[in-house]
Amino acid sequence: MLFKLAKSFFDNILIMSKLLEITYQIEDIASVARQILERVSSKTLLFYGDMGVGKTTLIKSLVKAIGSHDDVSSPTFSIVNEYATKAASIYHFDLYRIQDEEEALNFGFEDYLYTSNWVFIEWPENAKNLLPEDANSIEIFHKNTTSRSLKLSQNTILTQENAIEQHKI
Ligand SMILES: Nc1ncnc2c1ncn2[C@@H]1O[C@H](COP(=O)(O)OP(=O)(O)OP(=O)(O)O)[C@@H](O)[C@H]1O
Ligand SMILES: [Mg+2]
Repeated sequence: MLFKLAKSFFDNILIMSKLLEITYQIEDIASVARQILERVSSKTLLFYGDMGVGKTTLIKSLVKAIGSHDDVSSPTFSIVNEYATKAASIYHFDLYRIQDEEEALNFGFEDYLYTSNWVFIEWPENAKNLLPEDANSIEIFHKNTTSRSLKLSQNTILTQENAIEQHKI
């Protein structure tokens, strides 16, 4: 597994390990969604990428692959959409328009986290101090008009104790 040192704070280090890296066209998106679901280690997924790169398009495909028949649309004005599945719900946030983290706290953003539901968040950078540390991230990059690439990664907090145990540092 490939480890990248992302950030250090206090005595702990945040490690980002890559779970999947793929270049895809819109026609391949159902297969991309299945590959993501086979590899995720969290049900909270953070979608990073420029405006119009394909975050909502990928979420549509993931919602379908999880088994919901609900229509997926960008929740820009409602901030959150809920989609039903046979098991857990899927909450889809678009934080593009929130002014600050207090606004997210005021609509109860934190109550959606740390449950057994799926939580998909577009523009997570607008609430970066409120995000669960063990969420998975999906970064999408624009390659050309029809191709995108994405990287799925998981975050692990490495404390001094488990660093020696797990990674022989
Ligand atoms: N390979 C591809 N993967 C995803 N989208 C693609 C691809 N090729 C073309 N597209 C197009 O790019 C657009 C992506 O729009 P989408 O709304 O998903 O972006 P977004 O990242 O959610 O934008 P925003 O930041 O405004 O929420 C769609 O029109 C889609 O058809
Ligand atoms: Mg979107």
